[in-house]
Amino acid sequence: MQTHEIRQRFIDHFVRNGHTLVPSASLILDDPNLLFINAGMVQFVPYFLGQAPAPWPRAVSVQKCVRTGDIENVGITTRHNTFFQMAGNFSFGDYFKREAITFAWTLITAPVADGGYGLDPERVWVTVYLDDDEAFGLWQEIAGLPAERIQRRGMADNYWSMGIPGPCGPCSEIYYDRGPEYGVEGGPIADEDRYIEIWNLVFMQNERGAGTSKDDFEILGPLPRRNIDTGLGVERVAFLLQGVDNVYETDLVRPVITKAEELSGRRYAVGNEADDVRFRVIADHARTAVMLIADGVTPGNDGRGYVLRRLLRRIVRSARLLGVDKPSMAELVAVVLDTMGQSYPELVTEGARIERIAVGEETTFLQTLSSGSKLFDNAVAEIRAGGGSVIGGDKAFALHDTYGFPIDLTLEMASEAGLTVDEPGFRALMTEQRQRAKSDAASRKHAHGDLSVYRELLDAGPTQFTGYDELATEARVIGIVADHGRVRSAGEGEVVEVVLDRSPLYAESGGQESDAGVITGTDLDLEVLDVQKVAKRLWVHRVRVRGGEVTEGAQVLAQVDPVWRAGARQGHSGTHLVHAALREVLGPTALQSGSYNKPGYLRLDFAWQGGLSAATRSEVEEVTNRAVLEDLPVRVLHTSMAGAREMGALALFGETYDEEVRVVEIGGPWSRELCGGTHVLHSSQVGPVTLLGESSVGSGVRRIEAYVGMDAYRYLAKERALVQGLAATLKTPDADVPARVADLVERLRVAEKELEQTRAAAVLSSAGTLAESAERVGDTLLVATQAPAGTSGNDLRALAGDVRGKLGQQPGVVALFSTNGDKVSFLVATTAAARDAGLSAGALVPSFAAAIGGRGGGKPDMAQGGGTDPAGIPAAIAALRGALAP
Ligand code: ALA
Repeated sequence: MQTHEIRQRFIDHFVRNGHTLVPSASLILDDPNLLFINAGMVQFVPYFLGQAPAPWPRAVSVQKCVRTGDIENVGITTRHNTFFQMAGNFSFGDYFKREAITFAWTLITAPVADGGYGLDPERVWVTVYLDDDEAFGLWQEIAGLPAERIQRRGMADNYWSMGIPGPCGPCSEIYYDRGPEYGVEGGPIADEDRYIEIWNLVFMQNERGAGTSKDDFEILGPLPRRNIDTGLGVERVAFLLQGVDNVYETDLVRPVITKAEELSGRRYAVGNEADDVRFRVIADHARTAVMLIADGVTPGNDGRGYVLRRLLRRIVRSARLLGVDKPSMAELVAVVLDTMGQSYPELVTEGARIERIAVGEETTFLQTLSSGSKLFDNAVAEIRAGGGSVIGGDKAFALHDTYGFPIDLTLEMASEAGLTVDEPGFRALMTEQRQRAKSDAASRKHAHGDLSVYRELLDAGPTQFTGYDELATEARVIGIVADHGRVRSAGEGEVVEVVLDRSPLYAESGGQESDAGVITGTDLDLEVLDVQKVAKRLWVHRVRVRGGEVTEGAQVLAQVDPVWRAGARQGHSGTHLVHAALREVLGPTALQSGSYNKPGYLRLDFAWQGGLSAATRSEVEEVTNRAVLEDLPVRVLHTSMAGAREMGALALFGETYDEEVRVVEIGGPWSRELCGGTHVLHSSQVGPVTLLGESSVGSGVRRIEAYVGMDAYRYLAKERALVQGLAATLKTPDADVPARVADLVERLRVAEKELEQTRAAAVLSSAGTLAESAERVGDTLLVATQAPAGTSGNDLRALAGDVRGKLGQQPGVVALFSTNGDKVSFLVATTAAARDAGLSAGALVPSFAAAIGGRGGGKPDMAQGGGTDPAGIPAAIAALRGALAP
């Protein structure tokens, strides 16, 4: 049974049983605690916790998931995919254990002809939580399972949570016995490779707090209602039903292996285990990378971007180790787009962008590999020369940090060279770097990285944002948080976080900077420094107490600085205009991948390979400003996610399935984006937009920056003043400035050249005088002197040649020195007669070079060199004279 069909049967089964089909959420969720969505239930957390009413009592979904914690196991075990699809059914306070077990049992054991998976009931095993007698009994009753095929397990295995505070509960897992040839008897507790877990039913009934591991966390108490959350591993069922040996050989993954076989000329599964692992890594990672890029991730050096970069680089490296010596990413990506496109139509429409980003990273990494290899070779040579055999942790770290060399690549290349690597040293440096990055990130955002200090406040309900409609709102202080935790009050001079029940102040999100403003009350004056959202629901205002004392429960007036807000609206609407203009000029694949805006300034990152020409930049700027002039209406509308998609609204990240989304359009369909930001009412209110330039921020991503409104005007005014200043100095009309400057530059160049020639001629004309000043040392004529400072090497050579010519048939030596700062260069020339008498220019150099702290060498007729001690020139001349003396 094909994977697409396994998905479809799951959906059909649950829709038939009263579940609403909910689309998969994006892999990227706006939650700092979660790198990627890793379970079907993540988008439903608020419903489990009772923070929002569930829009439906029952739901079914097939969620895209990425788990990269086990990346080292990929390709080695039978069942680790970094990307996988989790099919799940959910009950929000509706049905509980009995129905969950019935639904699951029916689907897996119903015959294929009846819409089921047709698994053999005799081979099904299940586990339940230690004391869950209810589930134990239900499995006996509903499925008729004998007691020996129901195993009890502890918290680590059978008590599920997301690993962070949130909903949790005991669970029951369903396993399928692959048969004695795959391992020992004894059920899942004995062997999880023979008995493969396919489905986890979680009886979601409690809320957990912070903890240290899977089986060590505090249970805070029961959830408002009892829920069901399940997760079936679609790829695992595929591998059982398709009769293959592992998840990598299923219908949606295996085609990539086939392509890699073709590219490498090597074969899969012919007894070379190391190669097989490489094939599987390529297949797994190519799929994950494609899915991540589709959801808006671009390669980078931290967080999600780093995971993607690592996956793409592991593909390149595995391909290389398989003997592929040319770029291969485009072909691998094409296979994934083809196989996965049926379930994810966005892959078809986004294919070109996805390929461009993946190939861009491959190109960069191939260059990296070749320059990193040089550093590596040098390090090896140095270690060998020193008689050592270990590559230091610092070298391995430099390779990693500067050249993006994964440590396993360094290890492998080291072992090929017969060396080892100080891995602990490397790891220590990596840990240090990670901690630095972490504390950086933490100090930038909330005082408290984890949400626990806000937990009670969150439970009390969300902050109501009033800032779309008004700039001043009466509010109540519902909590105050200082660096060390919650406090009841804070006095003058302190900087604390204040949480309000209502606020008109925009919290930083969607690229828009937080509002500036004040919070005032009776004898109270707070300056707002920053506003952040916690868990999308709570407005946390970082404030400095300028006067009075802020206390919990106080009534206050929260006010947005109106001038700031007017600028912020211009900045954000301006960003939408530039984005739409970019897409109009470059085409629809130039999709925004990140942005930042504040009053007067905006910046937008977008997917594009290669820089934009000056003409293209001007065109984008012109389209933007034309849109401003056209005074397009700005409209905000609320619709469902599906409605927004249908309208073609652009949505890239962090979009979860929410009942209602906000769409901002400028000029109707011309610019339509999912956006929570604050905007102008008509495009003309944005004012002029002037692009500052455009640069690269990683492979396949460009950044464009612009000034907006008065800042754009001021920038242009400054530029004009600059041109006028130049015109006045040059005494020419503005329009002639470029020609005048070009003309001046050309004349300067000609003048410098002439000067140079004159100087050289002057130096060379001294040849006659120098020859006449020759002194006789023994049988040899010696001309040894210092030429004017700054004489070039060429002139020195020409002058020495001329002097030598004037010495004619006599044995003669010419030695000229010249200085340039604290450097000395010298030139020695001999006449033919001198050489006949056994003198060699090259051989004379050592006799005097030490005196100027230098060295050099050459042939018998001419030698040259340099030194670092100009003061030693007289001593050098004396030494040379000494060497010639009989
Ligand atoms: N949320 C459960 C899991 O991920 C179903 O296993």
